[in-house]
Amino acid sequence: MIEMIEQTPILRTAGLGFHIGGARIIDDVSLEVRAGEFMTIIGPNGAGKTSLFNLLSGLYRASSGRIELAGRDITRDPPFQRARAGLGRTFQTSSIFPALSVLENARLAAQARAGDSLRIWRRAAALRAPLERARHALQVVGLAAREASAARALSHGDKRKLELAILLCAEPRVVLLDEPTAGVSVEDVPEMMRVIRAIHREEGKTVLMVEHRMDVVVGLSDRMAVMHQGALLACDTPRARHLRHPPRASWPTRRCRPPTWARRCERGGGHAHGRDGRRGGGGHGGGHGLARGA
Ligand SMILES: Nc1ncnc2c1ncn2[C@@H]1O[C@H](COP(=O)(O)OP(=O)(O)OP(=O)(O)O)[C@@H](O)[C@H]1O
Ligand SMILES: [Mg+2]
Repeated sequence: MIEMIEQTPILRTAGLGFHIGGARIIDDVSLEVRAGEFMTIIGPNGAGKTSLFNLLSGLYRASSGRIELAGRDITRDPPFQRARAGLGRTFQTSSIFPALSVLENARLAAQARAGDSLRIWRRAAALRAPLERARHALQVVGLAAREASAARALSHGDKRKLELAILLCAEPRVVLLDEPTAGVSVEDVPEMMRVIRAIHREEGKTVLMVEHRMDVVVGLSDRMAVMHQGALLACDTPRARHLRHPPRASWPTRRCRPPTWARRCERGGGHAHGRDGRRGGGGHGGGHGLARGA
């Protein structure tokens, strides 16, 4: 259990940009996530949250700026090297192997982490560690009782939990969670939050999460960062007044409450359509990014 957030950043971006043609999808983002911290990124649809995750995990190549993990420059590293260095990301549901059991899905991830997924001839002892790690991960996410079930038989909410278990099996230091409650039924959201809290508090992971549900975000986050039109507008504790403003009907999603200055910015520039060099509005869904094993 983490008692203190270290002041040194474990993940840092400086002047990070991602440009396509004339459009600035990510615009000069400088962000520091401290070791042990739980940071949430909020912002309207199309703000660039998933694109930022794509840059961090290496799916997109930065047009400008720098990304550091534990002080090391990873800006040009491919996704698998970042994963090995401790940056984990949730996978799309489709990347679960549906015909395999829940335990086999987790065990394969643990074995891949050990770097021996292709070795067929192994001693029983060498198989034990990944198996134990897989079982521990399933315990953390609350799927231990389902370990023998085929992954395809899981409910949507349980599939998302299995993704989290697979993520844990890779032993990341920092986990990037892109809308972990997307598609999860309302009654299953508290359980999903319990799991994410356990990943942070009990497993000691630094968490960077994109989430729209403010009821979920405020209780979990040490700090919240707000994105709008590709830029980072602010980063502060959830108690900060400017991060706790009532929703506005015209905001793209009522679940996301814009802070005062974001609304000011919206009025000034026009939401997600506006200034020269900016891309047009509209997101392209939750987008959970990396294919398994990438
Ligand atoms: N590879 C790409 N090529 C062109 N446009 C892109 C690319 N990636 C993202 N975009 C655009 O950048 C903008 C930001 O998209 P992104 O998916 O990052 O937003 P988001 O904040 O995650 O939105 P949502 O809340 O809907 O998930 C969108 O207008 C999107 O269409
Ligand atoms: Mg998104």
